Amino acid sequence: MNVKYDVLVSASEISEKIMELGVELTELYAGEEVVVIPLLRGAFMFAADLIRVMDVPVRVEFLGAASYGAETVSSGEVRLTLDTSFPLHDKNVLIVEDIVDTGLTLAYIQKLLKSRNPRSIRSVVLLDKPSRRLVEADLHRTLFTIPDKFVVGYGLDGPGGFWRNLPDIVALREETENTHSE
Ligand code: PRP
Repeated sequence: MNVKYDVLVSASEISEKIMELGVELTELYAGEEVVVIPLLRGAFMFAADLIRVMDVPVRVEFLGAASYGAETVSSGEVRLTLDTSFPLHDKNVLIVEDIVDTGLTLAYIQKLLKSRNPRSIRSVVLLDKPSRRLVEADLHRTLFTIPDKFVVGYGLDGPGGFWRNLPDIVALREETENTHSE
């Protein structure tokens, strides 16, 4: 396999920012319980690291959303692939998202969860690609703003659903994108 990529955000930079966010959220939710909801699949790694540095009572629920299908360009259509199983009424909901690109996925999920009347709802986002935004979503905190490059790693997949297990966030070079999709 001829893998060529450029590291955009290293594992240590990610870890440092998550520590800071954990401290902030611990203060913000002091004395309260939080339902943390990672959006599957891309946010699973970010959420796993984040909840371990949140020193408040945390429940974890999962939501599955997909907008890209097998393509690297958004289809513009958001599908719910998994719903929560715990009532969110009067709960502090913290949505954990890996990347906001067009904003369609997060805006859709925020609207859905708001309709369940939580006490509060916030979204924390690992990567923000503002140049691609089509609809606005409410972002409580974003850890990194990145250019319009196709990025993989640290939970984010690439061609064929691979690359999620890379510890860094990387931009695949053109030749790798085109050759590794089995
Ligand atoms: C990706 C990513 C976000 C969404 C962002 O999910 O994880 O949820 O797209 O794009 P948007 O802002 O244009 O909506 P994807 O559909 O690839 O599913 P995955 O998380 O299972 O990889």
